[in-house]
Amino acid sequence: MPKADLVVVANRLPVDRIEDERGEPAWRRSPGGLVTALEQVMKTVDGAWVGWAGKAGLTVEPFEFDGTQLVPVSLDEEELESYYEGFSNGTIWPLYHDVIATPVYKRSWWDSYVRVNRRFAEAAAEAVGEGGVVWVQDYQLQLVPQMLRELRPDVTIGYFHHIPFPAYGLYSQLPWRRQVLEGLLGADVIGFQRVADAGNFQRSIRRVLKFTTKSDSITIPQPDGTSRTAVAKAYPISIDAHSFIELAKDPAIRDRAREIREQLGSPSKVLLGVDRLDYTKGIRHRLKAFGELLVDGKVKVGDVTLVQVASPSRPGVEAYQDLRDEIELTVGRINGDYDTINHTAIRYLHQGFPREEMVALYLAADVMLVTALRDGMNLVAKEYVAVHTDNRGVLMLSEFAGAADELGSALLVNPHDIDGMKDTIMRAIEMPESEQSRRMRSMRRRVLENDVERWGQKFLADVEAFRAARTRRG
Ligand code: G6P
Repeated sequence: MPKADLVVVANRLPVDRIEDERGEPAWRRSPGGLVTALEQVMKTVDGAWVGWAGKAGLTVEPFEFDGTQLVPVSLDEEELESYYEGFSNGTIWPLYHDVIATPVYKRSWWDSYVRVNRRFAEAAAEAVGEGGVVWVQDYQLQLVPQMLRELRPDVTIGYFHHIPFPAYGLYSQLPWRRQVLEGLLGADVIGFQRVADAGNFQRSIRRVLKFTTKSDSITIPQPDGTSRTAVAKAYPISIDAHSFIELAKDPAIRDRAREIREQLGSPSKVLLGVDRLDYTKGIRHRLKAFGELLVDGKVKVGDVTLVQVASPSRPGVEAYQDLRDEIELTVGRINGDYDTINHTAIRYLHQGFPREEMVALYLAADVMLVTALRDGMNLVAKEYVAVHTDNRGVLMLSEFAGAADELGSALLVNPHDIDGMKDTIMRAIEMPESEQSRRMRSMRRRVLENDVERWGQKFLADVEAFRAARTRRG
């Protein structure tokens, strides 16, 4: 396999294993946000991508896909439980999302996390060329930067953290808080979604490791008495706005949007929620607010419909199973009480959809509800904004989503405040077109300016500055 100049390391490969028409195994580009984001960056370079092939026990040799070398990392059943469902999604995910669910601290999970991170680091060290760049993605791989630095001191390393980084008071619960920070500091550039996340990280560095930080830079003492510098700052991620706009112009997709409204019984207002089925997304809070508006008689079935897409996620983790039960019970109760023979209060879909159908849904929706209790960024909010080329539609957005930093013209809400959410839903439903247009225009400007290409360029430019300095030093 040729050595690559840029290697992305992420928990998942950017492809899903499927069966083709003849029943043969094949690969298809996966629809997730991270893949969409990096797809653009990878197109322009001689790149490789190291990641898990998505099925326990599946061992596959490296192969080429759409001009990128894919390097599959194999995980067995036990590692899936302890590294992925366990430490990544049962410890780090809830801890970093402000303990919305209770994190579980289990030593065997940590041991597995260390082992699997090492496997990813070794695969990256193998794939990258002399003096190349490795860009590590997200919380499943926080130890990879340091491991890789030891294996390949010639390489420049970036790490981007897609989820929040918690305040020190919470972070300090982690029994392995020192090791995780040391792992991350193996990178030259450490990127976060929000300025607040970078600030939380720097505070933890000062408190736990006693290193000094100044503005964006951290001074890391070296064993030989010298020191090196790493940069930790915010690079808010975005979407490929132009590809969403293209889809939004497609007559077939516009027809589909009209058809969706008809199929819902032509309500005067369609509200929409689109989330992975995750306890961080505030789906329960949203349903509570909507359910109470029905009880109060403020919204009427037939007049207003809520479409909630909750795509299946992490079904092996207990907290996700419990959440699904709870949501489905709530939806069933509300619909049981308020549906009529031909109209539903909530159209609930526990399914994932292709991007075309998502765009049709966004176009069909008068109001988009993003009510996350904590969210690194929330790209759905940006997608909804991008497709509304006619400047219609209302975005209701949680203050606790990273997107709120840029989309201040949304109707910002605190999802814990149910009365506040109810008032804001009513305000969204009743908003005059002139106000919709003023708000949407300003949000669209931000999303179009800061698209994912710009995000990748900014991050990689900072990485390149480190590479250039390394080359100068020889
Ligand atoms: C979030 C994380 C990603 C992750 C995605 C889907 O967006 O930041 O790293 O890939 O959720 O979760 P999954 O566990 O299915 O990969």
